[in-house]
Amino acid sequence: MKNPVLKDYPHILLGADYNPEQWLHMPEVLEKDIQFWQEANMNSFSVGIFSWSVIEPEEGVYNFSHLDDVMDRAAEAGGKIVLATPSGARPHWLAQKYPEVLRVNERREKLLFGERHNHCFTSPVYREKVQNINRRLAERYKDHPALGIWHISNEYNGNCHCPLCQAAFREWLKKKYHNNLDELNRAWWSTFWSHTITDWEQIESPSSLGEYRVHGLNLDWMRFVSDQTIDFLKSELVPIREVTPDVPVTTNFTGFNHDINYWRAKEVLDVTSWDNYPSWHNDEEPACYVAAKTAMVHDMYRCFKNKPFFMMESTPSCVNWKPVNKLMRPGMNTLQAFQAISHGADGVMYFQFRKSRGGMEKFHGAVIDHVGHQDTRVYREVQSLGARLKGLDELVGVGTKSEVALVFDWENIWLFDDIAGYHNKERKYIPTCEKHYYPFWKNGISVDVLDMDGDFAPYKLVVMPMAYMLRPGVEEKIEAYVRGGGTIVFTYISGIVDENDLCYLGGWPGGRLKEVFGIWAEETDTLYPSDRNHVEVDGKIYTAVDYCDLIHLRGAKALGAYQEDFYAGRPALTVNGYGAGRAYYIAFRDTGDFLVDFYEKLMTELALVRNLQGELPENVTAQRRGDFIFLENFGENETVVPLHRTYKNYETNKVYPYECVLAPREVKILVEI
Ligand code: GAL
Repeated sequence: MKNPVLKDYPHILLGADYNPEQWLHMPEVLEKDIQFWQEANMNSFSVGIFSWSVIEPEEGVYNFSHLDDVMDRAAEAGGKIVLATPSGARPHWLAQKYPEVLRVNERREKLLFGERHNHCFTSPVYREKVQNINRRLAERYKDHPALGIWHISNEYNGNCHCPLCQAAFREWLKKKYHNNLDELNRAWWSTFWSHTITDWEQIESPSSLGEYRVHGLNLDWMRFVSDQTIDFLKSELVPIREVTPDVPVTTNFTGFNHDINYWRAKEVLDVTSWDNYPSWHNDEEPACYVAAKTAMVHDMYRCFKNKPFFMMESTPSCVNWKPVNKLMRPGMNTLQAFQAISHGADGVMYFQFRKSRGGMEKFHGAVIDHVGHQDTRVYREVQSLGARLKGLDELVGVGTKSEVALVFDWENIWLFDDIAGYHNKERKYIPTCEKHYYPFWKNGISVDVLDMDGDFAPYKLVVMPMAYMLRPGVEEKIEAYVRGGGTIVFTYISGIVDENDLCYLGGWPGGRLKEVFGIWAEETDTLYPSDRNHVEVDGKIYTAVDYCDLIHLRGAKALGAYQEDFYAGRPALTVNGYGAGRAYYIAFRDTGDFLVDFYEKLMTELALVRNLQGELPENVTAQRRGDFIFLENFGENETVVPLHRTYKNYETNKVYPYECVLAPREVKILVEI
């Protein structure tokens, strides 16, 4: 079943952030932009993101003329506008007149006006001012034919420690702990170092000037910050929903943003979207790995709403904020766009359409460069991408079917960043999830990315790396899933603490999971970076690094054993038959090759459906939406992909009976015939 993002617009969106307010003194520039935009085969602009000081130059004085102009021109051209609320950057006058909107940092220093994404999410004044400008925008454009979707704010992030936020945090805690300080003290284990709290007013947000080692407090603070940001988003939506109830809303997320548990925002939005800036062509990681990492994030964003999403920002050439800002090689822009589409995106947008002349982003890639004409490598590539996308209306709204779920949980990021123990510098939770995702990408098997509260039932395989903390109900869900016939994979450092970061008593993994996995873990050996152990599985020796759990069998079968040190011979990989299903425990971190072999074996045993039958060459993946199979070559070489049946190129109608050739960075869309 199709589930399009914009109900009345049956095309893939190709757009860009557009900031005409920077060019109002040069109308001849704006005149050309619309022509360039149309000739690039683009059909969308995201506008208004940083327009507040122009649309409300003084409190209560409004001027929407530049937005009117873009909206009208987009409508004339049959395009759609992604209309932003401007809360991501407030005007000077607002901060000057109402200093409470300015943030206070964790050292309790009041910040000056500056930067962006820097307002207090609690401030009633800021909320009121934002609601006011949002209402004005909604009322002005509610019936405008170009209004496609709301872009609420911009990349929400950060936190504020002002007195208003402290008070809101205490209220949040009172609610969570039923107004009961004993409950809170138990959850925070606060008798440790004699930090028992006897009055709610003693509670302060974590600060390097004071309390920052009570992990329960830190975790609750992160939960509060996330909830408060989402609450701010909800407050932005009040006038929007009231005035434009039928216009969908999104906000642009950023990868694995540290401050917000995006899973908790999904209900508030109609569509998810995210800003994608991978380090293509970097000198540290192979191309296939950068591609797989990016693919995993796309999959996660698709899964939030389980329907197509937008890639709201990307660069058509380079960014300007990484240590090295390398140009994307020819074809990479197109491949990046198709990668997003192949994982479920129905919109591909850039930051930005016209490159700023001054300011911090003047060297950031854009569709139109300072040269001011269309005869550039970047423009031509965007134009030819646009031409291809025009032929893909049939794809709009089509979903993805996955038999595998990878569980990645935001609260575990917070905990792994905060706990004391294991590798204190970096515990590599996200890279570990990526390493477990990679074998599926490499084999062209679609994966859904869920958090631990997701529904496991539809999947043949659930992969749950480093599931350190388990929220209530997860243990039971895993038990029922495996008993009912599911296969689950756990790793080292899993099932260690409950939702308050309190260790499970009675051995790990917590509670009934010891029965499900048929093991218990007694200790974890943390290795120095140059330390190695080895593990033998099926006669092959793999290298163990960083972590080795020392486990005991309690019914599980050992499939691999450590080769060295005082735990030589002890199990390093186990499987347990439980009910109608199976539970695997990988006790060690490997250097990557073990995971590929392990999952490839499992793919065969579970007969997981590949998007393209047979083996794929290096750096190539196959992703699928409905009948459309996307063959993507992230490598630098021409590659022959063997085919086990006849396919047709959807765009050219060329038939491939045995094989098809992909140029470097090429994507072909195949359909079965
Ligand atoms: C994003 C931001 C854009 C632009 C872009 C540059 O994080 O939303 O406004 O700054 O980065 O890459």
